Amino acid sequence: MSHVGTRYEFDDKASDYARLAQELAGLLAGESDLIANAANTAALIFDALPNLNWAGFYFLKDGVLVVGPFQGKPACVRIALGTGVCGTAAAQRTTVVVPDVQKFPGHIACDAASRSEIVIPLLLGTMLLGVLDIDSPEPARFDVADRRGLEHLAAIFVASQRAERAE
Ligand code: SME
Repeated sequence: MSHVGTRYEFDDKASDYARLAQELAGLLAGESDLIANAANTAALIFDALPNLNWAGFYFLKDGVLVVGPFQGKPACVRIALGTGVCGTAAAQRTTVVVPDVQKFPGHIACDAASRSEIVIPLLLGTMLLGVLDIDSPEPARFDVADRRGLEHLAAIFVASQRAERAE
């Protein structure tokens, strides 16, 4: 299999995220392995979106978030629920958008270049699988359209796990 990565301009975010969602659905079609699909999802996002320095997953294991497949600099391995941006999004089960990470109390700096961040909880029904975490070196990189588009991508990843757990 070869993947031709499409570079999107993201000047029309709604339509570019819709195309990226189709690309992701195709990439994950017929595959339900957690690590394989997380790795390809992180790689697709990191390759397609401009101005990112980290994109990847933390999965909930024994009540703690543990780093999973990602693109970017090596990251902290374990994050407690309620700690940092990731632990806050996981504990509150809601997307957290941070326009300026230096102003977020308890932000965990894995890459000093990060200036803004979005973390999306991954909910399979009521079960929290973990979070999708995306960082940018640009302040206020993620707007409402990014949030909507990235939540859609996260939902496509979660849907691939629904198939796995139904088998
Ligand atoms: N900044 C995150 C930690 C993970 S790294 O960004 C990859 C946080 O505050 O939870």
